[in-house]
Amino acid sequence: MSQSLVDSIARIEAKARAAIAAATGADALEELQRIERAVLDKGGELNQILRGLKDLDAAGRRDAGQAANESKERLAAALAERRRALADGAIAAALAAERIDPTQPGPRRAPGHEHPVKAVMRELDDLFESMGFTVVDGPEVETDFFNFEALNIPPNHPARDAQDTFYVEGDNVLRTHTSGMQVRAMRKYGAPLRLVAPGRVFRNETQDAGHEHTFHQLEGLMVDEGISIGHLKGVLEQVLARLVGGEVRTRLRPHYFPFVEPGLELDFQCRICGGAGCSTCKRTGWIEICGCGMVHPKVLAAGNVDPEKYSGFAFGLGIDRLTMMRHAIPDIRWLMSGDLRFLRQFK
Ligand code: PHE
Repeated sequence: MSQSLVDSIARIEAKARAAIAAATGADALEELQRIERAVLDKGGELNQILRGLKDLDAAGRRDAGQAANESKERLAAALAERRRALADGAIAAALAAERIDPTQPGPRRAPGHEHPVKAVMRELDDLFESMGFTVVDGPEVETDFFNFEALNIPPNHPARDAQDTFYVEGDNVLRTHTSGMQVRAMRKYGAPLRLVAPGRVFRNETQDAGHEHTFHQLEGLMVDEGISIGHLKGVLEQVLARLVGGEVRTRLRPHYFPFVEPGLELDFQCRICGGAGCSTCKRTGWIEICGCGMVHPKVLAAGNVDPEKYSGFAFGLGIDRLTMMRHAIPDIRWLMSGDLRFLRQFK
């Protein structure tokens, strides 16, 4: 009787071992848990068998009980072993799947490059610094005073209409030009003085091939004793020749700006049409690139500089148009389009 119980226990164990060994694949862990419940739990097969112990004599009970306990221990060990093997296998599989080869080159990130307008700004800074000018920065939101009044443009002056202004809160404007830096700088640094102030400017303008609401200028200001138009012309010619190169044709013509006297405008012969006239140059063959002139005595005075002792020139270079002439870009709107097909040409 006890022998038949011991045999049954051995059979149950053998069957369970086979099932444990066969548990593979995605739901192997669930399968092991099912086997554990079915065989080892309180109501499991081995415990069911042990209910037959009560019919045995003391020696038989001991043999069968011992056989059952040993069998439970072996099965528990087999389950643990199988679980560990499955876990090891899963880790090995995950490692294999995520294997990295540190000797492979990493993903290549294409390096960016300078925007053509930025490149011109940087080169202008370098050129002017090489001629002894200091590069200064100014506010994009400017007071009405520095943008207009200090530049001899009182309220209601018709010259204000020439620059369509974005007015913002208080007595402020989005600067319509970099010229606001003239009086700011003179008040801060006094005379003699040589500086350039590059930056963004804004005009409430209808856009076309030659006009944008947001563009870039570089203000130049030189104040000293005995400064003349000759100095102005010399500096501008130097810079343009070095920046745009060789066959550049320019012309200086009189123009009115309230803050210079005399006032001039420098034009570039249009490089899109070679001077024949096109939509970029409004069919004139020339592109205005720079307003300039001799600083008006009232502006010197507003900057606390003595107009009897000092004179100076000032200019406002249009950087976007300069960039257009440099690369023969027919439409200013390309510059801020953000279109990479356009920008990649300037790598
Ligand atoms: N500020 C003028 C403009 O934006 C240009 C200018 C600058 C003219 C300096 C004269 C002197 O049109």
